[in-house]
Amino acid sequence: MHHFEYRDGILHAEEVPLDEIARSVGTPVYVYSARTLERHYRVFDAAFANRPHLVCYAMKANSNQAVLKLLADLGAGMDIVSGGELARAQAAGVPGERIVFSGVGKTDAEMRAALAAGIRSFNVESVPELIRLSEVAAAQGCRAPVSVRVNPDVDAGTHEKISTGRRADKFGISWLQAREVYDLAATLPGIEVRGVAMHIGSQITDLAPFEKAFTLMAELIRMLREAGHDIRHADLGGGLGVPYHGDTDIPPEPKEYAAVVDRTLGHLDLEYVMEPGRMIAGNAGILLGRVIFVKEVEGKTFLIGDTGMNDLIRPTLYEAFHHILPVRRPPKEVQPVTVDVVGPVCETGDYMARDRALPPMQRGDFYAVMTAGAYGAVQSCTYNSRPLVPEVLVRDDAFAVIRPRLEAEDLIAMDRLAPWQE
Ligand code: LLP
Repeated sequence: MHHFEYRDGILHAEEVPLDEIARSVGTPVYVYSARTLERHYRVFDAAFANRPHLVCYAMKANSNQAVLKLLADLGAGMDIVSGGELARAQAAGVPGERIVFSGVGKTDAEMRAALAAGIRSFNVESVPELIRLSEVAAAQGCRAPVSVRVNPDVDAGTHEKISTGRRADKFGISWLQAREVYDLAATLPGIEVRGVAMHIGSQITDLAPFEKAFTLMAELIRMLREAGHDIRHADLGGGLGVPYHGDTDIPPEPKEYAAVVDRTLGHLDLEYVMEPGRMIAGNAGILLGRVIFVKEVEGKTFLIGDTGMNDLIRPTLYEAFHHILPVRRPPKEVQPVTVDVVGPVCETGDYMARDRALPPMQRGDFYAVMTAGAYGAVQSCTYNSRPLVPEVLVRDDAFAVIRPRLEAEDLIAMDRLAPWQE
């Protein structure tokens, strides 16, 4: 469910026509719907009503301050993976007890900052990290609350580059080694074990891998408790997919997901932490662009737009599919044409869509790359000296620029000449 719909033939974000935003802010620009973000958070949170739980939004999906503040105001915590994300979460007013820290390469400085912030849990991914965290915490005269991220060796059946729960992936501690790592943790002066964490991958549209992973998690928790470890919290990770195509990739409802959690872990009296990212932000955002040229070569048509791979890298990095909609809906009788929607960046991989049937578009027409709210703007860069794409938040009939467009001068101002060049 999202709030990007045609009204009187013009694609709107909530009640704001997208061509109005395109004209006022310029293109390319990311546009987010506040109502969609709110709805996704609420539906997911409500699916776990009556169970102790905390939804820690995986802010790597979209970490704009306005987005974080909106979610934090609804009660969301944050799943962070760096000191930078910690700083952003704190700037958005998220209290430490609502923050969990994932990631395989936490530095001493990041550990210190997170300890000082009083975060809820470090999701520890290796023995060297556990030992170092204990040293850093002990030196600060405290104990780090820890969940060990266990890798259940479950194949989530998702894209190679976003699968994390298989034995050969770099994430987590092997299922077989888990028991001895908890025994080690119990002996470390700077560690206080709180729970178990898992995250098996992203864009998962099938409940079976979750069921398998959570069943293993339940078995592990039972075993660890028997061995005397005080396991109170279960971090279930993120991973619920969104419908990019809308037909072949319909994800399960949060309620069905919660039913799997109940069935597998419900008897263990746990507090759950969930880390959804994509399902909160994914279809709450679009990338709005404008056709620069229509180029015909030997029977092939390229729509050359101003949205580049530097603005949205998902199509080329993950072979991701994003629907593309013209902002002005063509009359029904107009026949689609097959085109490649490409960008202006000097790379063959610079495309939004290939061999896509779309209504014919002309130079100057606006289009929307759909379902771009998660892992869009956050993965953008300034390649080809294209200034970072701006972001806009819509709520009802109002819109606001929540990240202004940078100018080339801003990029140049970041560089310095070496002293001998001056
Ligand atoms: N928790 C952990 C530990 C994670 O590594 C991730 C995502 C999440 C939660 C959130 O997963 P989600 O609910 O969003 O599936 N850039 C890629 C996705 C990378 C996901 C990385 N980890 C993409 O655009 O598809």
